[in-house]
This record gives sequence, structure tokens and C-alpha cells, in this order.
Amino acid sequence: MLNKIGLIGGGYIGGVLLQEIVKRRLAREVGMSDPAPFVNPNDPPEQQATQAKQSVAKGKALDIAEGTPTIRSDVRCYGSKDYSAIEGAELIINTAGVPRKARPDGTFPTREELLTINLKVTNDVAKGIQKYCPDAIILSIANPLDAIVYTLNKRLNPAKSRLFGMAGQLDSGRYCYFVAEAAKVSVENVSAMVLGGHGDDMVPVRSSCQVGGIPVEKFLDEATLAAIESRTRKAGGEVVGLLGFGSAFASPAWAALEMAEAVIFDKRKIIPVCALLEGEYGVNGLYVGVPAIVGKNGVEEVIEMDLTAAEKAAFDHSVGAVRKTCDEVDGMLAKL
Ligand code: APR
Repeated sequence: MLNKIGLIGGGYIGGVLLQEIVKRRLAREVGMSDPAPFVNPNDPPEQQATQAKQSVAKGKALDIAEGTPTIRSDVRCYGSKDYSAIEGAELIINTAGVPRKARPDGTFPTREELLTINLKVTNDVAKGIQKYCPDAIILSIANPLDAIVYTLNKRLNPAKSRLFGMAGQLDSGRYCYFVAEAAKVSVENVSAMVLGGHGDDMVPVRSSCQVGGIPVEKFLDEATLAAIESRTRKAGGEVVGLLGFGSAFASPAWAALEMAEAVIFDKRKIIPVCALLEGEYGVNGLYVGVPAIVGKNGVEEVIEMDLTAAEKAAFDHSVGAVRKTCDEVDGMLAKL
């Protein structure tokens, strides 16, 4: 058990994280920071005054705190509109961001506009961490994943082990789920890694996929596997399309908690995480999804797994896409 976990962002994922941390008793205290609802200067003054008093983070935290006697959990939880609620946290989980949604006039922000907005959010998040818990291990979930983790590194420059992103565990979970369904076996029997960037170029590594310790090809034919791998790459969008609001939130929160528990209980568990590469896989200075041993210090060791020639080519291609986004981020950060 940690003394304190800090949650930055109190939206859909932040809400599940808060519930689960309290239920699983992962820390003595958990603080959630989120500025929402944002005061809109164009609204009538009375509405602005109401918005200024409201707080998503305080509301969610109070709701859960009031349920703790029922579930018999003594974990203290509280929220704030500024970053003070994360003060002294040993582990930060960051979900702060603005989703891609239609403006009041019906138009959508471009990818670049959205990235600029989310880099500004991440800039504020970095300042909050710097002020209130500069030594925390940082686990970031916010999208675009690779760009946000890269930005946190640029702004905070923490030790390599202390900053990582969540994507591979979620993407691997999706891959495993589809394989288990197709092979008609328990999800507990399936293990697999999805590596590379957290985008359409992610790499479901078929050579790592096993069912009950047996290579997956024994259970599923080429066409089925190819279809599963393609569905895995687009799985986030599939959920978005069905929901009609926001994006997946339970599975990303659980995936992040898998990583958080590996840190909290010093499990030294091998998990695909978005980690800084310094020569591993022939990559330097980028955060990319790779298997790593996760323990009390965060990323204890990046594991260089053997990939087939086709998997290596796909991985390099995915890294190319991450590099392109990070070059773009460098340009944008210089202007912030
Ligand atoms: N500091 C802290 N929180 C912020 C800030 C900020 N500067 N700016 C925005 N937020 C908050 C929003 O107020 C919102 O409550 O971040 C929260 C994001 O929550 P949701 O929009 O509900 O998004 P969620 O589904 O939780 O996903 C969070 O993870 O998987 C990714 O793509 C997803 O980037 C998104 C993130």
C-alpha cells in the first residue's frame, strides 16, 4: 500500500480509477485534481458564479468517500479544482485532456488544434506535478499517448524509470480478448503483447501470442488471426463508434491499475508499457510501447524481445509514426 496516489483528470477514466483505488485499498489517501467545470466568460455572471463553485473532482471524491463506510474502506479521498489535491503523491496517474468533440457551430477541431490544446493541458499538468509531487512516479494515460508522455518528459525530465505511459496493456488485453473469443477458451489462457506506438500502426506481436502456453496458430487460422490483429489496431475507435460519446474508460483504467499494482506491490511484472528507449530496439529518445519489468521504481528494465522480420519491420514503421508526432510536438512546445 502506498501513502498517496494522485489522479490528474477526473473524467470517465479518472472516475473508474478513483473507485478502484478505494475499493482495492491501494493507498491510504487518493487526491484527484480537475479544473472542471470550466468557467465560461461568455456565460451570464450568475452561471459563471455557479460554475466557479462546482467541482467535478470534489463531487466525485465526496460521492465515493460517502460510500466508503458501506464497502468498509478507510482510504481517504478528496478532490480539488487546482493541483493541490495531488500534494505529496508517490504515484500520479494522468488522464487530463480535452476530447475531440464538435464545437457549438458543429465543426471539429483539426488534429493539430487538438494536439496544441492537449499540449497546453499537459504543460499545466507538468507544472502541477513539479509543484506538488516532483518525486512521484508518473503513469500517463491521456491521448495522444506517445506525444503526451514525450511532453511530460520534456517538461519534467524525470529519471527514465519514473515516467511511463499506458497503452500496451490495454491493446494487448483487446488482442487477448478477441483471440479467446475466437478460440472459445478462457481469457485467462491467452497471453500476447502489442507493441509500438498507440495508433493505427501498433503491432500485435503474433509470435508472442499463446493459448495455454501453446502458439496461437495451433488454434486459429491465418485469416482469423489477420482479422483479429486488424480489429485490435482499431479497437479504440470501435468503442468510440458504439458509445456515441467519449471513448473507452473501464478497460483503460483497469490496464493502468495493472501497471500501478505492479509498482505498488513491487511485483516486477513484465507488462507492455510506453517507455523511454535509449538504444533498445535501435531507438533513441522516444517513448514507445515495449515489454518492461515493472516494479517499485516504475520501469525497472526494458526487455528486448525477439521479433520476426515482419514484426520488426512493422515495429520500425510504428516508431516512424511516433517520431513524426514527436517532431511536431517539439515545434509546438517551442511556441507554448
Ligand atoms: N488539468 C487536469 N485535468 C484537466 C485539465 C487540466 N489542465 N484539462 C482538462 N482536464 C480534465 C477534464 O476536465 C476532464 O474531466 O481531464 C478530464 C478528461 O476526462 P474525459 O474527457 O472524461 O476523458 P477520459 O475518458 O477520462 O479519458 C482521458 O485518456 O484514454 C485517454 O483519450 C483519452 O485523452 C483521454 C484520456
